[in-house]
Amino acid sequence: MGIFVLKWFFLLVLHASTYPAAARRERKNVLFIMADDLRTSLGCYGDPVAKSPNIDQLASRGQVFLNAFAQQAVCGPSRVSMLTSRRPDTTRLYDFNSYWRVHSGNYTTLPQYFKSQGYFTMSVGKVFHPGIASNNTDDYPYSWSIPAYHPPSFTYEKQKMCKGEDGKLHINLLCAVNVTEQPGGTLPDLESTEEALRLLKSRVNDDDPFFLAVGFHKPHIPFRIPQEYLTLYPLDQMTLASDPDIPERLPTVAYNPWTDVRMREDVQKLNISFPYGSIPKDFQLRIRQHYYAAVSYMDAQVGRLLSALEDLGLADNTMVVFTSDHGWSLGEHGEWAKYSNFDVATRVPLIFFVPGGNEAGTSTFPFIDVLRESVHSIKSGKVRSRLVELVDVFPTVSYLAGLKVPVQCPDISFQVELCTEGENRAYAAPQGQSERTPEDVAFSQYPRPADTPQENSDLPDLKDIKIMGYSLRTWDYRYTLWLGFNPKTFQVNVSDVHAGELYMSADDPGQDKNIFNNSDYSEIMRKTASLPQTVGLQMRMKLQFHYLTAGMKTSRGKA
Ligand SMILES: *[C@@H]1O[C@H](CO)[C@@H](O)[C@H](O)[C@H]1NC(C)=O
Ligand SMILES: *[C@@H]1O[C@H](CO)[C@@H](O)[C@H](O)[C@H]1NC(C)=O
Ligand SMILES: *[C@@H]1O[C@H](CO)[C@@H](O)[C@H](O)[C@H]1NC(C)=O
Ligand SMILES: *[C@@H]1O[C@H](CO)[C@@H](O)[C@H](O)[C@H]1NC(C)=O
Ligand SMILES: *[C@@H]1O[C@H](CO)[C@@H](O)[C@H](O)[C@H]1NC(C)=O
Ligand SMILES: *[C@@H]1O[C@H](CO)[C@@H](O)[C@H](O)[C@H]1NC(C)=O
Repeated sequence: MGIFVLKWFFLLVLHASTYPAAARRERKNVLFIMADDLRTSLGCYGDPVAKSPNIDQLASRGQVFLNAFAQQAVCGPSRVSMLTSRRPDTTRLYDFNSYWRVHSGNYTTLPQYFKSQGYFTMSVGKVFHPGIASNNTDDYPYSWSIPAYHPPSFTYEKQKMCKGEDGKLHINLLCAVNVTEQPGGTLPDLESTEEALRLLKSRVNDDDPFFLAVGFHKPHIPFRIPQEYLTLYPLDQMTLASDPDIPERLPTVAYNPWTDVRMREDVQKLNISFPYGSIPKDFQLRIRQHYYAAVSYMDAQVGRLLSALEDLGLADNTMVVFTSDHGWSLGEHGEWAKYSNFDVATRVPLIFFVPGGNEAGTSTFPFIDVLRESVHSIKSGKVRSRLVELVDVFPTVSYLAGLKVPVQCPDISFQVELCTEGENRAYAAPQGQSERTPEDVAFSQYPRPADTPQENSDLPDLKDIKIMGYSLRTWDYRYTLWLGFNPKTFQVNVSDVHAGELYMSADDPGQDKNIFNNSDYSEIMRKTASLPQTVGLQMRMKLQFHYLTAGMKTSRGKA
């Protein structure tokens, strides 16, 4: 065990010693773009279906992290975790019902840090999760120089806006619309783009650098999108997920019953039994079609923002970040939506672009109109295969923009002073050196109210949480333990194991063959039970994996 700990410690020291150079560099503006519920269904992530030319173009000039993971696959907790660079166990936000500054600790956010360094900071659309989780102000005035902007047409998102087969309006999942016929002739992401463009223009002649965060609402459901984007994905060319059935050995606690999808009127009409009934295949294809169309629609808004940088003369001194709060299951494992620890729910796109490397005179990001131009695949820029996490975004953006990187938080602490639970990931491995670092892990978690799927399993309120699924993703495996959790004390009971999952990446990239074995595990529990309390859960799980697989090797050897 000593060796494991030492290695980790050594890595931390190594990274820390490379930070100070950042402080001397010139400060850049930041355009921070977030999508909502976007998995890595993008051309630049190798998705053969997705048409995302504008994000691909950004990727072609930037650093593309192929293996980035969210800390919890639901909007509010993931966004607060990313923007404070603290894990959900430190923000203590697992639902939407508390404001970290009063509930947990008065942690500094990424935009707040930039603001404190003289930046003019602005929020457009969904950046923080609105509501209680950001004190009904999107954390203004701490994080932002001016109040956050929300597109007025978002009010209609939860109303009857989708024309059904009966010609009447419904609250549907599938909601391709004629934008001219929508109230105000617009949609939320169109309005957010316009506001962001207006704010960019207003900063052109200002001496202070800016941090503009733009949070798009798509491809989050409902798929209320301009109908023309559907034509990019003819239904007869859509396919189902490659693993559309619920895996045989999936623990019941791991399954998320996609309640928010079921609630929509068009899905209710399908009369699908709760929790395990499956969506008819033709409807699955339509959901996938609409999701991809929503991605292309959002990509077009990204393209409008990026092309404006050049037009406004901001391209040379503005860095761009593109990411999402978490992924979304599109029928994999018989599941839909987020709310799980699987890669499809936790893996996110993460792209950083820093100006400086382009040939002079070329327009940096010309808008690519996916509805009118044929789309070619564009080679990604620097592809980074390291496993990284959304808690890494704060230190990495700080470094790339030219600010000092926050120090590492003490190991298990609720330290309020500025610190990060992530790492600066801006450094690429030296030429020829592999990025497959065995020490790299991404750590995610998901709460549940019970061992079997309930109406509130997707998003339990804090008071109802009884089990926490902690999930360790390394190069070789995803290992998840569902452990007893006390929502009053926030204590995890490592002896109270409700279920386990172990998927080996090489044999089972889709995570369908759970090889976790309870009887093997009892033996390992005995071995790790004597570890001191101070040995954190990540380390504990790494050791357990080590023992688990060592056991597997010996039993295979015997056979
Ligand atoms: C939280 O920190 C901010 C500065 O980062 C400070 O202005 C504010 O008063 C603090 N609030 C509380 C409740 O401690
Ligand atoms: C949250 O909002 C309320 C009501 O606007 C305000 O009184 C309170 O001070 C805010 N909390 C913090 C920590 O700023
Ligand atoms: C969209 O609605 C407008 C106004 O009703 C109409 O003129 C137009 O033809 C519609 N477009 C399509 C493609 O249906
Ligand atoms: C819905 O399904 C249940 C059983 O699965 C069945 O009893 C009921 O008649 C169905 N309702 C409709 C409207 O099809
Ligand atoms: C932890 O779980 C074990 C096994 O279920 C149980 O015996 C023990 O009482 C629990 N400890 C606490 C503090 O709840
Ligand atoms: C679990 O492990 C035990 C003991 O090693 C073995 O007897 C049993 O067959 C295994 N079960 C499965 C499902 O692999």
